[in-house]
Amino acid sequence: MENSTEYKAHAAAITDLFTATFTTSEGVEEGALIGELTCRLMAETPLQDLRVFTAWNGGELDSAIIFSRLIFESDNRTVFVLGPVAVATNRQGQNIGQRLITHGLEALRTEGVDLVVTYGDPNFYKRIGFSAITEEDVPAPFPLQYPEGWLGQSLDDMPLTPLNGPSRCVPAFNDPVFW
Ligand SMILES: CC(C)(COP(=O)(O)OP(=O)(O)OC[C@H]1O[C@@H](n2cnc3c(N)ncnc32)[C@H](O)[C@@H]1OP(=O)(O)O)[C@@H](O)C(=O)NCCC(=O)NCCS
Repeated sequence: MENSTEYKAHAAAITDLFTATFTTSEGVEEGALIGELTCRLMAETPLQDLRVFTAWNGGELDSAIIFSRLIFESDNRTVFVLGPVAVATNRQGQNIGQRLITHGLEALRTEGVDLVVTYGDPNFYKRIGFSAITEEDVPAPFPLQYPEGWLGQSLDDMPLTPLNGPSRCVPAFNDPVFW
């Protein structure tokens, strides 16, 4: 398996992976929503606010994960949001997702990111170092529909202390439907 951080040249393949994977797991409407989100994240986010990691198997795209910045104007810590994440339907359950997320977190730690948050299934993300956080400690850009899914992990070996909000997401995520 080869990992890559180059996404501009692979934007169409990455969008297709998210659309197909979420269509299979969540239905056509969610597949289209996440495909569009992915496409916009890659097209509209300033380079410094986006990290994309992909895993390839002999020219086939196995998995892609996207991190985008969560901006806290009043706090000097650097925070990224992990998501969305997809592993090709026929490649799921082989540890590919956990491996690529761990690889991405390590790369962000190396570049000095302090905290990564995500919004998803705690049963999956707790396997890779995430634990529950509150909107009081880490303000989200919109009120959360599912606060149990608000998760975080510190990358700087410091205990997570409350961040000074408010926070602002990148433009592609600026819609309450995602929160
Ligand atoms: C969720 C997803 C990224 C996991 O990637 P993966 O490569 O299939 O997962 P891994 O092989 O690394 O890990 C599999 C383990 O996680 C568990 N797991 C996978 N999804 C889970 C979930 N939603 N909740 C709890 N556990 C989950 C599996 O049961 C498995 O456990 P086991 O090792 O005890 O059998 C992938 O299945 C996927 O793309 N799903 C559809 C899209 C999606 O839901 N994305 C995440 C939300 S943004």
